Amino acid sequence: MFEHVTAASPDPILGLSEAFGRDERPSKINLAVGVFKDAAGQTPVLDAVRTAETRLLAEETTKSYMPIGGDPAFGRAARELLLGADHPALAAGRVVTFQTPGGTGGLRVAGDYLKQNHSGKTLWVSDPTWANHHGIFAAAGVAVKPYPYLDPQTNSLNLDAMLGAAQGMREGDIWLLHGCCHNPTGIDPTAEQWTQIAAAAQAYGVLPLIDFAYQGFGAGLTEDAAGLRAVLDVNPEALVCASFSKNFGLYRERVGAFHVVAKDTDTAAVVGSQVKACVRRNYSNPPAHGGAVVTTILGNTALRTQWEAELTAMRDRINGMRTALQAGLDERGVRLTPEGNGFITRQNGMFTMSGLTKPQVQALKQDHAIYIVGSGRINVAGVTPDNLPVLCDAIAAVTGG
Ligand SMILES: Cc1ncc(COP(=O)(O)O)c(C=O)c1O
Repeated sequence: MFEHVTAASPDPILGLSEAFGRDERPSKINLAVGVFKDAAGQTPVLDAVRTAETRLLAEETTKSYMPIGGDPAFGRAARELLLGADHPALAAGRVVTFQTPGGTGGLRVAGDYLKQNHSGKTLWVSDPTWANHHGIFAAAGVAVKPYPYLDPQTNSLNLDAMLGAAQGMREGDIWLLHGCCHNPTGIDPTAEQWTQIAAAAQAYGVLPLIDFAYQGFGAGLTEDAAGLRAVLDVNPEALVCASFSKNFGLYRERVGAFHVVAKDTDTAAVVGSQVKACVRRNYSNPPAHGGAVVTTILGNTALRTQWEAELTAMRDRINGMRTALQAGLDERGVRLTPEGNGFITRQNGMFTMSGLTKPQVQALKQDHAIYIVGSGRINVAGVTPDNLPVLCDAIAAVTGG
């Protein structure tokens, strides 16, 4: 029965982590997989999460099914975190929210919804983008095309090329934008650039689909949502897939939110009914625990304050490592682009597109037991004060710096 089945190629990033696990060199460093690590190299359970979990355990009364869209209280909390409690779209009832199994679950629901209700339209993704975008939308049967994003000469945003490509999108196409902390490049548009992107979406009649997996990892909870809110200021309709994996450290609990923003309440209800049908046929209803943790924290002033402080500490640690990495490379005479290493501190979030070539990435792994993704993406959140000198020495060795 299974003789015709051939092995699937391993996931490039998880495959690297498996190879890392087998590597016996004590100095090995894993900067491939996208998880936050503290200065000791651990991915901790946040204190606010632990407290919320203790309360939930004591207060939980049932394990019965969740509603298809998840807990309405979660939906409210997620919308308010996304847009701010006083956003007019919330008062107008134009936003419908689905609690999803992580950001990935939300993206797959979005893919199913688009395939069934926006047939013949193309979804445009940045080049490069998070590799799983391609896999998720291919699995849903949505046609995907790339738009330019990265200027490899300077490791910054090529806005002219991006807007030029937008001009070639057809009305009703879908434009996938990373709300902040672009994965894999770490390059985000400036406020002025977001205004131009928002205007282009409106002018060309394309539907923004915003992937928002790192709120709070860039500059702050409100600051990181500014681009997304600018898009919604001029585009009354959009889709948003948010993840709470990183900012609450809830990776394995699978918690995310899929928001439909429509021009009015009736449209939101109609689109919401189609999304509901997609969820029912997929996972039926979402896992409860992670969402309940998020709702508990966001709904309690003391826990929310504690969570925001923990989130700030994670962000500050990453940004501190960016500064230290840039300085460490400068000190060793390494120049990762013709313009130097300044891009490392200009980029946001967990990742930096280092500009390291495939052979250099290979040499880092083979000769120095340092694992980064083949594209040259480094997870800065995996750099610690202890492994930083080893990393800088190894990059200097492979670049001849
Ligand atoms: C850009 C982007 N979108 C979505 C996700 C999915 O997150 P989750 O783990 O919540 O499924 C990730 C995770 O790495 C991501 O980087």
